[in-house]
Amino acid sequence: MKGGGFMADKKWYFGSRRVFAFPRLGIVVKVPRFYWKRGWSRFVDGYKLGGVIFSLSWTEDQFGSCRQVLTKGLRDNWQEFVFFCRHRGPFLQPTLFSFLGFLNIQLYGKILSEEEFERAKVWRQFFYLTNQEHLSDGHHFEKAANFCAIDGHLRMVDYGSPQTRAILLKWGDALYEQVSLATPSETETQN
Ligand SMILES: Nc1ncnc2c1ncn2[C@@H]1O[C@H](COP(=O)(O)OP(=O)(O)O)[C@@H](O)[C@H]1O
Ligand SMILES: [Mg+2]
Repeated sequence: MKGGGFMADKKWYFGSRRVFAFPRLGIVVKVPRFYWKRGWSRFVDGYKLGGVIFSLSWTEDQFGSCRQVLTKGLRDNWQEFVFFCRHRGPFLQPTLFSFLGFLNIQLYGKILSEEEFERAKVWRQFFYLTNQEHLSDGHHFEKAANFCAIDGHLRMVDYGSPQTRAILLKWGDALYEQVSLATPSETETQN
C-alpha cells in the first residue's frame, strides 16, 4: 500500500506504518513499523555526540533522528486516534479504534492518484485555502497518497504528526468544504 513513487530515496523516506486494506469490509488496519537496525545506528551516532538524553531528544519529526525510525509509526497511530476522537472534523478520514497505537482501524477511502491530484490542481488550491500555511508541512501535503476522496470531497488519511494536526485544526473544515476535485476545464464548462 505504500505510495511507491516516494520510495525512490530509501535512505530518507520511511513509511512509518504498514497499511492493510480491506475495501470490502470498508476498513484499513494500520500497524507501526519499527526500523530496529537503523534506529540503533542513529542512536549510537547521537550518543557519541552528546549522550543518551541528547540522542533521544530529537523528535519523531526531525529528519535523521533515532525516534524517526523507531517510534514515529506508534506515535502517529496513537495521535491520529486521539485527534479524531477530539475533533472529528469532516476533513479527517475516521479512525475507529486504536490499541494503544499498535494497531489502528480506519475507514477505507479511495486514495487519490498523483494524476487526480495534479489534474484538479489540489496543491495550488491549498495555497489560497490555507493562506499558504500548508507549506509548514509541505512534504506531507504534496503527497496525493495522504488523501482520499469521499463523495467528491477531499479527506486526509494521514494526520498523526503535530505539524499536520496544527494545520488541520485551523484549515481542515475549509479544505473539506472548498477543495474542488473537478478538473479546471470541467468547472469552466459548468460556469
Ligand atoms: N483509510 C485509508 N484507506 C485507504 N488507503 C489508506 C488509508 N490510510 C492509508 N492508506 C494507504 O496507506 C498509505 C500509508 O498510510 P499513511 O496513513 O499515509 O501512513 P504513513 O505514516 O506510513 O505515511 C497511504 O499513503 C495510503 O496509500
Ligand atoms: Mg502518509
